[in-house]
Amino acid sequence: MSVKKIGILTGGGDCPGLNAVIRAVVRRAQSFQIEVLGIRNGWLGLISGDVEPLTSFSVIGILPKGGTILGTSRVNPLRTTEDRQKLLANYQRYGLEAVIAVGGDGTLSASRELFHLGLPVVGVPKTIDNDLRGTDYTFGFDTAVNVVRDAIDRLHTTAESHHRVMVVEVMGHRVGWIATFGGLSGGADFILIPEKPYRIEDMCAVLENRRKRGRSFSIVVVAEGAAPAGEALPEKVGEGTTTGIGYRIAKEIEVRLGIETRVTVLGHIQRGGSPTAFDRILATRFGIRAVDLAQQGTFGQMVALQGTRIVAVPLDEATAGPKTVDLEQFADAEVFFG
Ligand code: F6P
Repeated sequence: MSVKKIGILTGGGDCPGLNAVIRAVVRRAQSFQIEVLGIRNGWLGLISGDVEPLTSFSVIGILPKGGTILGTSRVNPLRTTEDRQKLLANYQRYGLEAVIAVGGDGTLSASRELFHLGLPVVGVPKTIDNDLRGTDYTFGFDTAVNVVRDAIDRLHTTAESHHRVMVVEVMGHRVGWIATFGGLSGGADFILIPEKPYRIEDMCAVLENRRKRGRSFSIVVVAEGAAPAGEALPEKVGEGTTTGIGYRIAKEIEVRLGIETRVTVLGHIQRGGSPTAFDRILATRFGIRAVDLAQQGTFGQMVALQGTRIVAVPLDEATAGPKTVDLEQFADAEVFFG
């Protein structure tokens, strides 16, 4: 079976590399004479009929650009029966034969449900959080880690000059991949992640011990979803993008150790800007393989990186729960605590 027209959408939080996928999908589709329809703002575009044809001209110069030329939203297409019906009607109206859905857990869980309702979907895993199962990495993650590493490098010099503790709060509400990799690559003195409930006294003991041994400053990296032992994972404060955990930690350090402490919340800086070479290549390979799957009529799958190969894994498997940080791997970061 070969398809003649496919749609592509980007859903959920944006991340660097989305445009690289769009470009690769359009270019690969061209080689099979497949038409590509860009669906704006995630699943919302298919519900409301907001689409645009994508040609090779549409994707000129977008490889290095962050964000997504298609726009995005977190709209769940299954939230009402009416929306679902509109989506399926538009799918027919535009003559689509497959949809490539590029997204994280929310977008791909909806893709899984729609696939089981009969929609031919191929998933592409994107998220700076790197929390999708079945793939070693999602694109966007490497760029975010590099932003964190760069921030820690910069914080080192000011921390050293003022003999302070610097707390860096990074994204990762359910998982601590960015904190672990960012902290490890930046040489953090302590890392707090949601997967490992912390005891503030243990961390303070490590920082204090370090001071006694002559180091006059410290860098602590905390994932936004980290929580002390015995407490539930923290919620975001109001409409803000922080749980406030960085400030809480800083206050406790100051009270317990009497050391001046400052907080940097990196927030959406981790999601913006140009993708790294790694993310551009991964996103491009994902885009190519997603078209290949659609062209072969293989649906309900997500393209994934396993080792050095791009493979297909069932959406059911990829969305069966978050891929959390392996604590054995985290132990490599712990070697440098204190
Ligand atoms: O899912 C990616 C992510 O960047 C999370 O790490 C973060 O908690 C969330 O998005 C922030 O979302 P928003 O842009 O809606 O504030």
